[in-house]
Amino acid sequence: MKNLFLTIFSLVFIAGILTITTGFKTETVQKEVNPENLLTIPDSVNKVLKDKCFDCHHSGSESMKAKMKLKLDKLPTLSKRKLISKLDGIAESVEEKDMPPEKFLKKYPEHALTDDESKILIDWANNAADELMK
Ligand code: HEC
Repeated sequence: MKNLFLTIFSLVFIAGILTITTGFKTETVQKEVNPENLLTIPDSVNKVLKDKCFDCHHSGSESMKAKMKLKLDKLPTLSKRKLISKLDGIAESVEEKDMPPEKFLKKYPEHALTDDESKILIDWANNAADELMK
């Protein structure tokens, strides 16, 4: 009976230590990659990105080309310099109506950005880039 109690106690103790150490590790990695939490994405922006851009531009995307240029899920892990350049790219591609790609919109016109959505993305990307350069 005493042994059983000791075994259970040790298991719980080890599990606790593991949780604390792995938790600590992920936190430090996150801090190293993104020390000041450089990016906040307001809900309105997040919704547009999710509806109109995310499918092609995330780590698990089937489009290698789109993934190479922009992985939206990785934005918060980028360095300040890279983040500014990605934000500028987003503002520019939307301003120039390069994104979403024309070919894709021919097939799926409902995925085009509305004027409001374009403005939301451009304003956010420009302001966020300006903030980072201060
Ligand atoms: C149907 C898939 C698809 C969708 C949807 C899409 N993109 Fe793209 N995007 C691509 C591809 C493919 C490329 C690479 C084009 C190339 O290399 O010529 C790209 C490139 C880019 C680039 C890099 C441009 C450059 O020249 O470096 C940016 C920035 C970008 N997309 C932003 C967006 C934004 C913002 C949205 C949403 C409004 C969006 N994309 C929606 C497929 C997509």
